[in-house]
Amino acid sequence: MAGNIRVLIVDDLPETRENVRKLLQFESDIEVIGQAGTGEEAVQMAKEHQPDIILMDINMPGIDGIGASQQITESVPSVQIIIMSVQSDPNYLRRAMMAGARDFLTKPFGGDELVAAIRRVHDKRPAASSAPVRQHRQVTGNTPEEPVVAPEGNLIAVYSPKGGAGCTTAAINLAVALARRGRRTILVDGSLQFGDVSVMLNMKAVTSIADLSDRGNELDQDLISSISQIHRSNLNVLLAPPRPEMADIVTEENIKQLLASLKESFDFIIVDTTSYLSEKTLAVLDMADRIVLIAQQNLSSLKNVSRFFDLAESLEYETQKVWLVVNRAKSKQGKGISVHDVGKALKRPIYGTIPDDEITVNDASNRGIPMVMGEHQKKAISLAIIKIADQIAKELMDGKAPVSHKKEQSEKSKGLFGRLFNRREAAGG
Ligand SMILES: Nc1ncnc2c1ncn2[C@@H]1O[C@H](COP(=O)(O)OP(=O)(O)O)[C@@H](O)[C@H]1O
Ligand SMILES: [Mg+2]
Repeated sequence: MAGNIRVLIVDDLPETRENVRKLLQFESDIEVIGQAGTGEEAVQMAKEHQPDIILMDINMPGIDGIGASQQITESVPSVQIIIMSVQSDPNYLRRAMMAGARDFLTKPFGGDELVAAIRRVHDKRPAASSAPVRQHRQVTGNTPEEPVVAPEGNLIAVYSPKGGAGCTTAAINLAVALARRGRRTILVDGSLQFGDVSVMLNMKAVTSIADLSDRGNELDQDLISSISQIHRSNLNVLLAPPRPEMADIVTEENIKQLLASLKESFDFIIVDTTSYLSEKTLAVLDMADRIVLIAQQNLSSLKNVSRFFDLAESLEYETQKVWLVVNRAKSKQGKGISVHDVGKALKRPIYGTIPDDEITVNDASNRGIPMVMGEHQKKAISLAIIKIADQIAKELMDGKAPVSHKKEQSEKSKGLFGRLFNRREAAGG
């Protein structure tokens, strides 16, 4: 049949090949067109038969799966390779992805997993070659006759030192609100292992940040268009990898390049950032023009947020870089902490507050429709987020002085401890 996904199975063990073939025999849209027992044979058959997908074992005598993948990717670029391996070591996986593999399966795997991987990789293919390319050069808000000089976009990291504070909720709704105002906005799920954005926006990670890992320096608008997706709010979304293990194939360098590139194409880049301060998270925070720091009205949150402010100071972030937003804001009950108390305790102005409204938040996330655009858009919680979004747009787009980024250039990959330690050394401590 014309629409079939044509698969080549490569493994040195005939028994494994047979098992894999059996797992696929009842899938009406998948056709196993051949089997190869060595890397050399795989390269030969790939050239001859041009399968859509190759299921490639890594450990084989002669040229192994990685070597074969490399040759195939070069000579038959239309073929998509899925690596099969008993190892799930990230370095191994990264090498496989560098060699051009699109996905991997850890042996032993079941039929469902195999079929899902094949369909996912196959679905991804047309997207990579024919995705709608956005007109990045047009700046909204300029009159047509004005020459368009695109200023750099604004990178906003939504961060909280502890999970569960509401970063994802805030990031998604801020991003959608900005997009609905006609701002060219992209939301990046920076929670690479367990990102929630796809669920909350009801989108599938057919393409994801993991697709960056094998593209080296060729990061350009076309690539970004091909791996990001467009939500119906007109928001561009770059999802986290579909599976947690894949997070490790995205390097700090990938992230830096990505963000730098996105700044050329979007007015706003909103990153839903994880709490754990890994080098990747630090890279995002360093590069951010603003950090929306999410706090809540309780002592544990105050303590952690206060520590983050100390850290921000140690990292020499300018004070105005961090915007304090109180989420799940409640009016003070009895001896509770008021929003005003939060600002006082942290000695910072409150940039915005988002009221507590579990029913609306839960309903929106269950439906996969952000509350600022669905039937909840007139609720107090939505209006509060829209207000913050408007404030952000006004402040950052209307010619306010940008926060300087002078520090981060010299601070590469030292980790938090190394960076703080170095700074003390430099200070003679
Ligand atoms: N303003 C709010 N009112 C009520 N519940 C909220 C609010 N903001 C977030 N939540 C809930 O808190 C939990 C954590 O939110 P989430 O956005 O996932 O936080 P994070 O990304 O920081 O871990 C979720 O169950 C979410 O529905
Ligand atoms: Mg989250």
